[in-house]
Amino acid sequence: MTKQLIDAVVKVQAGDDLLAVRADVLAVGAFEDELLKDSMRSLDHLLSGSIAALKKLGDFEGKKGSSCLLYTEGKMKAARLLLIGLGKRNDFKLDGLRKAAALAAGKTVDLKADTVALAFVDLYGCGFTSEEVGQAVTEGAYFGAFRYDEYVTDKEAKRPAKLNVAILWDGGVAAFRGVNNGVAVGTVTGRAQNYARAFSNRPANVINPVTLAAEAQKVCRGVKGLTCKVLDERALAAKKMGGILAVGQGSATPPRLIVLQYKPAGAKGKPVALIGKAITFDSGGISIKPGEGMQDMKFDKSGGVAVLGAMQAIARLKPRMTVYGIIPSAENMPSSKSYRPGDIVTTYSGRTVEIHSTDAEGRMILCDAITYAAQDLGCGTIVDTATLTGACVVALGKKRAGLMGNDDKLIERLKAASEATGERLWHLPCDDEFVEQMKSKIADLKNTGGRWGGACTGGAFLSQFAGKAAWAHLDIAGVGVWGAGETDAPGSTGFGVRLLTEFIMNL
Ligand code: BES
Ligand code: MN
Ligand code: ZN
Repeated sequence: MTKQLIDAVVKVQAGDDLLAVRADVLAVGAFEDELLKDSMRSLDHLLSGSIAALKKLGDFEGKKGSSCLLYTEGKMKAARLLLIGLGKRNDFKLDGLRKAAALAAGKTVDLKADTVALAFVDLYGCGFTSEEVGQAVTEGAYFGAFRYDEYVTDKEAKRPAKLNVAILWDGGVAAFRGVNNGVAVGTVTGRAQNYARAFSNRPANVINPVTLAAEAQKVCRGVKGLTCKVLDERALAAKKMGGILAVGQGSATPPRLIVLQYKPAGAKGKPVALIGKAITFDSGGISIKPGEGMQDMKFDKSGGVAVLGAMQAIARLKPRMTVYGIIPSAENMPSSKSYRPGDIVTTYSGRTVEIHSTDAEGRMILCDAITYAAQDLGCGTIVDTATLTGACVVALGKKRAGLMGNDDKLIERLKAASEATGERLWHLPCDDEFVEQMKSKIADLKNTGGRWGGACTGGAFLSQFAGKAAWAHLDIAGVGVWGAGETDAPGSTGFGVRLLTEFIMNL
């Protein structure tokens, strides 16, 4: 690894005197149709009418996702003023604030500058608490600052090693403390998410089940309250984890089951499990995938890496229950040793599965992890996250993950966490009708359910391993990765780190 990944330092700064703010970039949020109201009006006066001119020309209207860079030419301490469009005030949500902060941070990095002051000063009537503001802005700053360039040796691509972010805050003392508390939480989740993004972006010639397990152990040594246990291929064989072993048997690098534990003193209730699919490369195996786009199958570990990220955040935020992070990991490769279509695999649960496609490998490793969580660890609540099906991308596109499960209350909790974090979900069915589609004539189950409803049949397959536990499944195949052009930082989105952390902290 050649370069330090981008980090941010976020501080709260008291005061509302925009004139005196020292920063490479002063970013100011502006609502649509309010360009000449409140603070924006004062700003316009300071700049001798530049904002009024912009408005008149129609160059910037404050539309959501838009921005406009102005040079202050000595009229203010900050040389650059970046206006960030917030859209209409009456449909401004917390995630709008997060995205606005991300946009400001990203533009600052693109300018190769390293200090940005964020002023979201006229948020009256939006209904956010000061904690929420601090957390969302901080998470956004981290998210937007992130660039993945550890393998770029070109010196021209220089960018700041870290971004200094000041959140300007003009509220009272109590609110100031609130924003600060929010910044502390947002720093934990923002870092954890960027960790996950960087790690998911790493290629499969570097990250395989063995190096992933070593990384998990290293991470746990560095975070108080986290421990890590790794089941290697011999331990997996001794426990008869047939699903993980079958998928892993075609690769020169053997599979692993990585088990992280966060266990506070005086933990309450049954433990909770977060499970993440970590196929370090998904070639499809003998049911090999077409070549086009196959390079993106290094991202098939995104669910597992999101769990590794979330567990770090959780250990730092210290909820009062035991949480397991379970990461089954294998490389899905074609070889003379691979599992084949037609094979019948006995999973850890004892249930047999007839393989119809070796490319439906995610469910084969997840089923053993789910059984392990329910049976061995006694978890009462299990949430798995996985880049499971292309069908989910067809159904929901790249903005929402599929949400399935067997427990209404759990589904509602995940929806609430989704609302708060802006990592969006959409509830899909995976009930008995879909389970029917997964029955085999010569084994208990088969691993594909035919052409229709692929996200739902994938969920239905997994549901068969949860036993009595409340279980939910996130299909992140669409939301886990951004293509070139979708953002300044294509690659892993770290989807799930914020969502899973929020979900646990609210249990
Ligand atoms: N990792 C893929 C799913 C995927 C597809 C993730 C596109 C991200 C983008 C998964 O292992 C897979 O291959 N699923 C199959 C399932 C099918 C064989 C039942 C699929 O979606 O085609
Ligand atoms: Mn596959
Ligand atoms: Zn896969």
